[in-house]
Amino acid sequence: MPAPKNLKVLTPQNYMGVMFSIPAGLGVRCDFCHNMEDRASDEKPQKVTARKMMAMVKNINDTQFNGEQKVSCYTCHHGEQKPAAPPAPAGRGPGGPPAGGPPPAAPAR
Ligand code: HEC
Ligand code: HEC
Repeated sequence: MPAPKNLKVLTPQNYMGVMFSIPAGLGVRCDFCHNMEDRASDEKPQKVTARKMMAMVKNINDTQFNGEQKVSCYTCHHGEQKPAAPPAPAGRGPGGPPAGGPPPAAPAR
């Protein structure tokens, strides 16, 4: 493996561990972000987004968890390309009353 040429967040020591955690973290393969002929290239927007995510994760771990690797891609992504949206509040959303309608009735006991 040649030395990495275009690391802006990760280090030559840790970057491969991060790369190999991404398929499980996001459910995507290497070519989701990389031009497989030139992995140093930033031509894919997914790679540019991922770099920002890596900086965010590093920042959270450094500032909130004493530099320990507590938060990872999986923490939010749970194996999905895009993290799930929050569920609709109880009684709202599909099948519930229209937004702005009366509050949902108390559950029957
Ligand atoms: C979700 C996007 C994403 C996926 C998927 C991904 N990578 Fe990366 N990869 C990146 C980012 C972002 C960088 C640059 C990190 C930085 O700037 O510190 C990088 C850097 C690299 C580099 C260093 C390239 C250089 O010369 O600078 C290699 C090699 C690499 N990845 C291999 C892999 C392999 C192998 C896989 C699959 C197991 C993989 N990557 C999956 C986003 C990804
Ligand atoms: C704090 C929660 C959080 C963490 C941690 C996180 N992400 Fe994300 N990520 C998101 C959200 C939310 C979106 C969707 C943004 C949108 O819908 O536009 C996203 C979107 C992305 C996308 C774009 C997907 C697409 O289809 O366009 C990539 C790539 C990505 N994240 C990579 C990563 C990687 C790699 C890591 C770990 C280094 C990571 N994320 C960690 C919250 C997170």
